[in-house]
Amino acid sequence: MPVKVIVGTQWGDEGKGKITDLLSRDMDMVVRYQGGNNAGHTVVIKENTFKLHLIPSGIFYSNVLCVIGNGVVIDPAVLIEEIETLKTKGFSAANLRISSQAHLIFPYHKDLDAAQEKKHEEGRIGTTCRGIGPCYVDKFNRRGIRISDFANEKIFRQKLELNIKEKVYILTNYYGMKVDYSLDKIINEFFSYYHAFKKLIVDESTVLINEAIDQRKKILMEGAQGTMLDVDHGTYPYVTSSSPIAGGACIGAGFGPNKVEEVLGVVKAYVTRVGGGPFPTEIVGGIGDLLREKGGEYGATTGRPRRCGWFDGVVMKHASRTNGLTHLAITKMDVLDSFEEIDICTAYEYEGKKIEYFPTDLTKLEKCVPVYIKMPGWKEDISKTTDYSKLPANAKKYVDKLADLANAKISLISVGAERGQIIKT
Ligand code: GDP
Ligand code: IMO
Ligand code: MG
Repeated sequence: MPVKVIVGTQWGDEGKGKITDLLSRDMDMVVRYQGGNNAGHTVVIKENTFKLHLIPSGIFYSNVLCVIGNGVVIDPAVLIEEIETLKTKGFSAANLRISSQAHLIFPYHKDLDAAQEKKHEEGRIGTTCRGIGPCYVDKFNRRGIRISDFANEKIFRQKLELNIKEKVYILTNYYGMKVDYSLDKIINEFFSYYHAFKKLIVDESTVLINEAIDQRKKILMEGAQGTMLDVDHGTYPYVTSSSPIAGGACIGAGFGPNKVEEVLGVVKAYVTRVGGGPFPTEIVGGIGDLLREKGGEYGATTGRPRRCGWFDGVVMKHASRTNGLTHLAITKMDVLDSFEEIDICTAYEYEGKKIEYFPTDLTKLEKCVPVYIKMPGWKEDISKTTDYSKLPANAKKYVDKLADLANAKISLISVGAERGQIIKT
């Protein structure tokens, strides 16, 4: 069973890019299975910092085939830009493959995303405004346009014309927006992108992936976003429109769950969230600000400041359950270096009772108050530590507590953004 799935266990930005890059060295294939350019996965290689939005984080190894799977939604302008950026830094995207079943993001998706956010000022989701939600809506409404549609310009045009008509009506009459989409202009623009990445398209990406599985090649599934942003298992409606959890990998890449050997949860040593929605352990001001500054917690996609708070063990248990976590990669441990004491939330108090499960109904969640335990800090710079035995005893106690809450084994501890700042356990 050669498939390893990497998932975010919180609200995204746990450091999946760094961990994926690290593990890619020993992989044959890395696949993105959901989301789109709402994701921002950072990979730091010496003095170069790459922020990947669509391309799998295994791209820096030319012998690793990187696949954008059927479950991803693609903004072709972003894809081209990302390929070009890689080229300017000396990395070729020749090892990239794009599933023909992936759906395309059009300008009206982005306008709809922005219009919805504006209209529902109160309780807005705080999306990345990249058109992700509206594109998935079209996919599930069977109105979407896929990469494969490029092969027949007549059909592409027909589908696009119909979509434009519908979206202009909604944007004008419901959202009161002035929009003007030229069919020819969009066609010309999109076909120019198509010609630029045509040679990377694979018609049957599931065959490609399953053949690799059958040949017992090593395959990594790179999740985007995180468990708490999952459309089913997150803090709905403050979620994204796809399934970042491990099960989503089977759908978004097209293979059976019996092929999964390991589910690696990427766990930030504290918690962050960007955008609206509940966040039980959030700290506004004070330590929250300190965590943001020490951790450089600003969105890799939108630059927005991330909300910060202590580690939430209830969220951890929820992630463990919904993903079937077998292993953990704990990131950003170095950010906690200077704290005298570190709080960990181990349960919520709900209507006078202690609960240890995450209530996904927000009216119930609103009434939950985190219950904390205090862990002693280690007050020592661990950013250069690469050997587990050299970690301070209190840092070991801290990671053990997280593993205990997750009921999973720790396989990696990250102590800095750079590739080499890692402890393998
Ligand atoms: P992703 O979306 O899960 O890939 O995470 P992001 O790239 O959005 O955010 C993680 C941020 O933390 C990036 O700026 C990384 O370079 C950085 N990072 C990753 N691991 C570590 C770590 O162990 N320590 C520190 N200080 N930074 C890290
Ligand atoms: P990575 O892969 C953190 C959040 C948005 C918003 C919600 C819905 O880098 O971890 P969307 O644009 O998806 O409709 O927005 O989801 N969000 C992320 N937050 N990391 C991400 O990706 C995110 N992708 C979406 O901020 O709250
Ligand atoms: Mg990110």
